[in-house]
Amino acid sequence: MPAITATDLTKQYKDTLAVDRIAFEVREGECFGFLGPNGAGKTTTMKMIYGHSPITSGRLEVFGIDVRTRVREVKAQTGVCPQEDNLDPDFTVRRNLVVYCRYFGIDPAEAAKRSEELLEFVALREKADGPVMALSGGMKRRLVLARALLNRPRLLILDEPTTGLDPQARQVLWEKIRELRRKGTTILLTTHYMEEAAQLCDRLVIMDKAKILVKGSPAELTAKHARPTVVEVWNPPAAAEAWVKARGTPCERHGDRLYAYPDAGEALQRELVTRFNAEQVIVRRGTLEDVFLRLTGRDLRE
Ligand SMILES: Nc1ncnc2c1ncn2[C@@H]1O[C@H](COP(=O)(O)OP(=O)(O)O)[C@@H](O)[C@H]1O
Ligand SMILES: [Mg+2]
Repeated sequence: MPAITATDLTKQYKDTLAVDRIAFEVREGECFGFLGPNGAGKTTTMKMIYGHSPITSGRLEVFGIDVRTRVREVKAQTGVCPQEDNLDPDFTVRRNLVVYCRYFGIDPAEAAKRSEELLEFVALREKADGPVMALSGGMKRRLVLARALLNRPRLLILDEPTTGLDPQARQVLWEKIRELRRKGTTILLTTHYMEEAAQLCDRLVIMDKAKILVKGSPAELTAKHARPTVVEVWNPPAAAEAWVKARGTPCERHGDRLYAYPDAGEALQRELVTRFNAEQVIVRRGTLEDVFLRLTGRDLRE
């Protein structure tokens, strides 16, 4: 049985169609990613899955349970790290966990035990008696993660868990996510860090404008939608761009960069440097970021 099945899933807010007849299936135990520019509909999709936002039409089942009619059962098996931190600033770190246990009807002795275990898991024991205000951004995200795990969820939903964190804090969270995945938790992750998706997700979808554009593993999507080899030239001399085109190598210009997609990257790089004195020329493999930009465009979404 799949962990999640969605067909024709739709969300209409007053005058915004936020999710438009999307379909996807998440397997139990996998880490499944939702990528997409701001406003794509990722958070709305998450909210429908954890029963926070009623679905407008379509079907949505979590562990075979219809979210429309049995939302309490879905919530009992789900842990959520929402996009916006909603910790209680009036409580200490530990109290944020203990109090949250009531929501699941966990008795006080058990609540104390689980809170201690999870403080240990997210390395916040030393901060346990201090105020939430004293935590760094990364610590707050770890506390939200601990809180999401109090009910020992089979499904964990992480909506942009690492946005705004520094690289160290991000690495720590990635390690925790991997550990949970190894233990068999099904994980849904939204992110706009392509590297994060490539590292953590078994499979993912790219959404834009309320629709799913593509789905697959990071490797499949890269193989299918990115060019294998990319040569990037910063501030290319005008003659260089013309020469690349004349030689029939596919290429495109964005701002101060020329992107060329040759069969042999190093050879093109060498020629650009020797013939045109081009200064910054790099050769790299196509990435998930190339796939994302190719499918969703380069214009800003704010
Ligand atoms: N509560 C709401 N009421 C009305 N419109 C909303 C609400 N929440 C989100 N939207 C709109 O729905 C669209 C999708 O938003 P969202 O799901 O938050 O996208 P994402 O998480 O991919 O950035 C956006 O156009 C957004 O403005
Ligand atoms: Mg969002």
